[in-house]
Amino acid sequence: MGKGVIVRPSVAADAAALQAIYGHHVLNGLGTFEEAPPSVEEMERRRAAVVARGLPYLVAEIDGRVAGLAYAAPFRLRAAYRYTVEDSVYVAPDAVGRGVGRAVLSAVIAACEDLGLRQMIAVIGDSGNAGSVGLHRALGYEMKGVMPGLGFKHGRWVDIVWMQKALNGGAGAPPDAPGLALHGV
Ligand SMILES: CC(C)(COP(=O)(O)OP(=O)(O)OC[C@H]1O[C@@H](n2cnc3c(N)ncnc32)[C@H](O)[C@@H]1OP(=O)(O)O)[C@@H](O)C(=O)NCCC(=O)NCCS
Repeated sequence: MGKGVIVRPSVAADAAALQAIYGHHVLNGLGTFEEAPPSVEEMERRRAAVVARGLPYLVAEIDGRVAGLAYAAPFRLRAAYRYTVEDSVYVAPDAVGRGVGRAVLSAVIAACEDLGLRQMIAVIGDSGNAGSVGLHRALGYEMKGVMPGLGFKHGRWVDIVWMQKALNGGAGAPPDAPGLALHGV
């Protein structure tokens, strides 16, 4: 873990800090295709929805301040996707490159492994997103492809990079846990 980085479960009182970090990347980055930052209330609604599914929504602190977040959410809502989650990871702009992303995403991966899940997907905005591609590669995700021009943000077409990491042996053996409770269409 990065020097001085502490990872813990998020709580409702983190909502403003989560909103500040994510909102910065919505406004200034291409990693997410949202263009208008969600409100603090919406950020908390999303956080609570992840936690209500029993999935990890974790924060990393440096010096008592929330410096990063990572969580896992259903990749898709149709039932057969119940062993597959998509991760999200965002680090405060003044804390990048200090091991925060590695610490918080590693902990999310470990929690998903403990749940008996089998696949983690990263859907990364921008093929030039060296930080996110590098972080996911460093944590064992494999590059699965680039889909060009799926978004238009900040005045240009933006690619999506797909990366994937198998958990618990992936597709090598039948499931041994119930997976997520999914009922979507
Ligand atoms: C991507 C992001 C979460 C990485 O977090 P971070 O705390 O800066 O990353 P870390 O310091 O933990 O780096 C861990 C590893 O990732 C890789 N990495 C991180 N930044 C990198 C970069 N700019 N280029 C290449 N590899 C990089 C390295 O392998 C690094 O390991 P090392 O420090 O031993 O070399 C952060 O840069 C961020 O918030 N970016 C903007 C938002 C975003 O795109 N989020 C992802 C959406 S899919």
